[in-house]
Amino acid sequence: MASTKARKTADRPRSVARRPRILCLSGPNLQLLGTREPEIYGKETLADVHARLAARGEELGADVTARQSNHEGQLCDWIGEARGQFDGLLLNAAAYTHTSLALFDALKAVALPCVEVHISNPEAREAYRHVSKIAPACVAKVSGFGTDSYVLALEGLVRWLAKRART
Ligand code: DQA
Repeated sequence: MASTKARKTADRPRSVARRPRILCLSGPNLQLLGTREPEIYGKETLADVHARLAARGEELGADVTARQSNHEGQLCDWIGEARGQFDGLLLNAAAYTHTSLALFDALKAVALPCVEVHISNPEAREAYRHVSKIAPACVAKVSGFGTDSYVLALEGLVRWLAKRART
């Protein structure tokens, strides 16, 4: 007869994957989505994007918290506080992508899986957008699909987390 401890372990479903908690951060000037250079960034507002992320998160069984700041330090603060509160990050660091060692360090410090997100395809734009300081601290990048990049990045991150939970 199995011991109480062994029985309890055996009764437990093998893969109780907790609902993943995802933090989506957007950087400077993305509060202007909808009116900012719509030929590049489209007509959807950031509120629209956040609503789509919440809805897709529901379908995928994930909780999505979405925030935006124009301030590098605020983004670092949110990343720094994320460990223990979130399982993964989506980060559109906007122009800070190309400049911010501080954001790279913050991502390395918390060691949470992060997907770099861009609405446009920075590699197909000006040379100064071709470098990403944060890419080496990310598990993946989704760019160039318009605001769908956010939703595709969420789908990819949820799959990434589920795969890691299985291994
Ligand atoms: C962006 C691309 C960046 O180069 C730019 O500075 C942004 C937005 C994008 O989502 O396409 O602000 O991150």
